[in-house]
Amino acid sequence: MQRHMALSLVQEPPAPSFSPSLAIPFLPTENELTATPLRTRNAQLQDARSIYHLIDSFTCDGTLLRRSYLEICANIHTFTIVETSSRQFIGCAALHVYGPHLAEIRSIVVHPDTKRHGAGSLLVHTLLDQAEASGIKCVCLFTRIPAFFEHFHFRIADHQTFRDKVLKDCVHCARRNACDEIAMAIGELPSPRDRPWSSFFHPRHHADLVQLQL
Ligand SMILES: CC(C)(COP(=O)(O)OP(=O)(O)OC[C@H]1O[C@@H](n2cnc3c(N)ncnc32)[C@H](O)[C@@H]1OP(=O)(O)O)[C@@H](O)C(=O)NCCC(=O)NCCS
Repeated sequence: MQRHMALSLVQEPPAPSFSPSLAIPFLPTENELTATPLRTRNAQLQDARSIYHLIDSFTCDGTLLRRSYLEICANIHTFTIVETSSRQFIGCAALHVYGPHLAEIRSIVVHPDTKRHGAGSLLVHTLLDQAEASGIKCVCLFTRIPAFFEHFHFRIADHQTFRDKVLKDCVHCARRNACDEIAMAIGELPSPRDRPWSSFFHPRHHADLVQLQL
């Protein structure tokens, strides 16, 4: 029964829209935002629609990278959401893990009408805690608002330090030759040795090669 429900949620296409109001049809009151503490929790598939609409409303101007509804569903385990004590969704963020050397904060966003109440900070702290609990050495992100992330001691770094990120997103990006995003990181920066995948593509020993039976 549970399995059937999850499948039907994934297959249901979202209504196209660019309005954050679709993510949160009923906004929390000022009292809810200030009087009771906000909290974070792991996202579930039932949150995918709200996550999709909120991220989508920030993609037109390039503030956030577009994430399709299906991609959000497939990666729902990477998302954390922030909500009020009455379970009103107000924002989300994702931690994408490249390996023990690096993870990336992606898709961090808070509904515009609920900003400056600490939701963004709560998301950053929760993702940093997740990274630390998993033994990840460095957390990076690419942003146009470095001042926000400086609050959490992220420091500016060279884009090329994060080759995993560059290979995953930047090489496909229309603005790759005129990027205005600032790379930031916290923790021990990855070194060229921290690329476990490179040995898969460049076998060092003849014995690593597969003998084709032609
Ligand atoms: C960036 C964002 C997540 C911040 O969320 P928020 O809930 O407003 O943040 P908080 O209330 O936790 O703010 C924490 C601190 O950062 C500051 N801050 C918030 N937004 C900021 C910004 N854009 N630039 C600089 N500082 C900012 C706050 O003033 C606060 O400082 P204080 O502790 O000295 O008062 C939110 O504005 C947002 O969703 N923006 C649009 C999406 C986006 O740009 N995402 C980042 C992509 S990399």
